[in-house]
Amino acid sequence: MPIHIVADAPAKLTSVCDILGPTFEVTTELLDAARFRSNGADAIVVSADLRVVENITALRAASRKLVRVPTRIFIIDQRTRLAIVQAYALGATHALVNPVKPAQLLAMLTDIDAPSIVPDETAATTAQEAASAGVASIASMFSAVINGSAINVAGARLAGAGIAESIAENGLSDWLTTVRRHHEGTYQHCLLVTGIAVDFGLSLGMARADIERLYSAAMFHDIGKAGIPLAVLDKPGRLDEAERAMIETHPAAGYHVLKGTPGISAEILDAVRHHHEYLDGSGYPDKLCAESISDIVRVLTISDIFAALIEQRSYKPTMPREKAYEILLDMNGKLERPLVAAFRDVALNR
Ligand SMILES: [Fe+2]
Ligand SMILES: [Fe+2]
Repeated sequence: MPIHIVADAPAKLTSVCDILGPTFEVTTELLDAARFRSNGADAIVVSADLRVVENITALRAASRKLVRVPTRIFIIDQRTRLAIVQAYALGATHALVNPVKPAQLLAMLTDIDAPSIVPDETAATTAQEAASAGVASIASMFSAVINGSAINVAGARLAGAGIAESIAENGLSDWLTTVRRHHEGTYQHCLLVTGIAVDFGLSLGMARADIERLYSAAMFHDIGKAGIPLAVLDKPGRLDEAERAMIETHPAAGYHVLKGTPGISAEILDAVRHHHEYLDGSGYPDKLCAESISDIVRVLTISDIFAALIEQRSYKPTMPREKAYEILLDMNGKLERPLVAAFRDVALNR
């Protein structure tokens, strides 16, 4: 089986070659001059430090060639969540960390289900790291939709888990401040929704498995916006009728891009399609009524509206959390009353 190896330093090329050379037919390239001529290779091994911007730029530029190779193993230099999510966002199917154990790398090449590394759980997750990993994941899912390539579900889940960890460790207020300070537009919105939904789930005493469902649904909820021009998404001020109609296509569009994607559950599909439905049937796209709207969607919808209200935009002052919560209270009949009441603590105090 032919394997192509790309690394950001000659010593890394040598160490991967030493492991694979005796068993496989290998070709090699240095990343800064790589043309990714992996013609016919069954696997590519990329060994690079993903803290280096030039490495990320080179890998991003090569992504179309890269994803044609079925198995893509990234060997990274740090066992951090950000580096692992970044590897997935750049097209990895598996991730390992230097120094690599030969048996582990060989197992990955012969068994596609071999486990990748998991982040170092003992390291504290700062809000900033979790937000950077979140953006890397959301950016990659948006570009996958635009390019028609595979959406990386594992990366989104890993990034969502990082957000949940950061919220549990540092609280919601820290998350809101960090995200609004460093990120803009749709990415900012998706990070805010995910953090608020997680904190709402924690405050409701949800089980870990439900929190996982919630952050996965939140990470994907607006994926249908990938096809909408930024001029419409980020338009300052009111949208006209045609623009509003375009925005309202995003829940069904998101549902269609995710349908059939391995790892996307029926619950996530339901949440993506129905997060703009209201209990009184006045939402979209399916005008569902209360009995057809699941609990997880109800939680997500409240989190989504609140996040949209408190977003930081360059052209308008940020709405205080108290005012945003009053707007939720005024949405008579549309949101579940007891749930909005339970949201009070998240909205105002956490
Ligand atoms: Fe939405
Ligand atoms: Fe949203």
